[in-house]
Amino acid sequence: MLKPLIAGNWKMNGLKSSLTEAELLVEGLSQGNYSVDVLICPPATLIDRMVSVFDGNAISVGGQDCHANASGAHTGDVSAEMISDMGATFVIVGHSERRTDHGETNAVVRDKAEAALRAGITPIVCIGETLAQREAGETLSVLGDQIANSIPPGVAGDQYVVAYEPVWAIGTGLVPETSDINTAHNFLRSKLQEIGVENADKVRLLYGGSVKPSNAAEILGVAEVNGALVGGASLKAADFLGIIAGA
Ligand code: PGA
Repeated sequence: MLKPLIAGNWKMNGLKSSLTEAELLVEGLSQGNYSVDVLICPPATLIDRMVSVFDGNAISVGGQDCHANASGAHTGDVSAEMISDMGATFVIVGHSERRTDHGETNAVVRDKAEAALRAGITPIVCIGETLAQREAGETLSVLGDQIANSIPPGVAGDQYVVAYEPVWAIGTGLVPETSDINTAHNFLRSKLQEIGVENADKVRLLYGGSVKPSNAAEILGVAEVNGALVGGASLKAADFLGIIAGA
């Protein structure tokens, strides 16, 4: 069994004052006995300080995106090397908000995942169908295409993480039926095997989209769900701890 990864994605939320939530998370985790990996991906502006808050505690910090290049004339972008340099050890790539807001294709996402590995940090590659694709019965074909073309090729499965996030479930309070999550995750696992990923059984497959304390245990109880990527409910330590407790 893979150790679950419970990852928080703060998106474009959080100022210095929000670090009190990170402190509360440290405190809360120290009071329980959890056998999960915990990660927060704050905005890039807080990575450095959050690494300091988590220093000495088993909580990782990650970026939310990176450029494919290590450095250069790319105003406003942040490279995987820079994220790593601040002490972060993960980076989300290909989140649906990046795919939508910035037109990121599978090829762009794959390049970013490769950049993360080059910099020595673990990419969390996001995939997921839109509502229109779901209603057209295209969910599995979309997921198959996205996973095959977004993961870094020729890389063993324990080097990266995949997050399945139905676009229509993100920030909406809507969650697929547990049986649908089960179907999607089983499909993704077999797809990884089919395309010949080495250690395909070691890829942690996270579910993301409206995960909250009240539904975490059920979702995390699905056989091939190896963790969660949490947006809104990761902003408050109490909520995030409630999700961790469900793992
Ligand atoms: P949500 O976001 O938990 O707020 O739905 C999930 C995500 O976008 O990673």
